[in-house]
Amino acid sequence: MESGRPAAKGAAAKRPAVKTIVIDCDPGIDDALALALAHGSPGLEIAGVTTVSGNVSLARTTANALALREYLGFPEVPVVPGSARPLLRPPINAAGVHGDHGLGGVRLPEPALPPAPGHAVDFLIDTLASRPGEVTLVAIGPLTNVALAVRKEPRITEWARELVILGGSYTRGNVTPAAEFNMAADPEAAAVVFGAGWTVTMIGLDVSRSALATGPVLDRMRALGRLGTELLAPCAEFYGMVTATEGPAIHDTCAVAYLVDPSLIEVQPAVVEVETAGRLTSGMTVVDFELAGRAPNALVGTSLDVARFWDLTLSAYARVRPTARSLSG
Ligand code: RIB
Ligand code: CA
Repeated sequence: MESGRPAAKGAAAKRPAVKTIVIDCDPGIDDALALALAHGSPGLEIAGVTTVSGNVSLARTTANALALREYLGFPEVPVVPGSARPLLRPPINAAGVHGDHGLGGVRLPEPALPPAPGHAVDFLIDTLASRPGEVTLVAIGPLTNVALAVRKEPRITEWARELVILGGSYTRGNVTPAAEFNMAADPEAAAVVFGAGWTVTMIGLDVSRSALATGPVLDRMRALGRLGTELLAPCAEFYGMVTATEGPAIHDTCAVAYLVDPSLIEVQPAVVEVETAGRLTSGMTVVDFELAGRAPNALVGTSLDVARFWDLTLSAYARVRPTARSLSG
């Protein structure tokens, strides 16, 4: 039994075609639950995790990614640190939401293994170059690393199998009325990424706001055993108020769930541009579904099948066996 994941019972379970992914993230509570979902999904193979400054500092997002890698059970996957700050602006953070540590009150055992050498930008370029057309990039934090990679090697827009992001909104933001956090944290990077010539699959707040960890969802998480009681439920409860019908939106998991089963999320072609100059609208993803003859640069999520999303996500969590005890705070 490989560490962290149960062996297939009986005859080798028929594995769906495996999608190789690299996750660029800023753990972060919902990033942590997205990493667990990716690891527990038999149809996904994590080829690497890159970290970026976002919810908390790069040092913290990287430390959290290293600790999650060992706790969840994928110690062989490289974790590569990236940008410590946005392209132009001073960093903002979401420590008020994720806690200064970045995982709420959860304290995972200190990681024993170090990050991989080198920079995330070079790791992204080298990984996409080595397997053109095969690797999907999923970015669930500010897009600083992705933008720098595109600027350094524009051909990654051809080499990536697809780019899926959690970010943006065509309705309301969550940092300002106009801007969602990942876009607001580095609007210039987001503008570079949307303007690079590939098709960005944008899973925004319009979709992820439906992914609520309600009381019944948390009960299902706790019923999974240690992963649920040590990580999933404590993280979700720190992330927001939980009632029978309401709860925090676990945003980042939606981008990973889309990779597992794209039918969970309806997407529409659109032209997306990112505001970088507005005093009140900086970081706004200006989404135009009326193409009027223009070529779309994005597929934008418009709705989530919530029941199937949680069924898929909790089934994946059930496959994860924590390999070390968390010290929940
Ligand atoms: O707006 C939600 C996004 O911002 C998520 O990726 C969350 O982790 C924060 O980074
Ligand atoms: Ca994130």
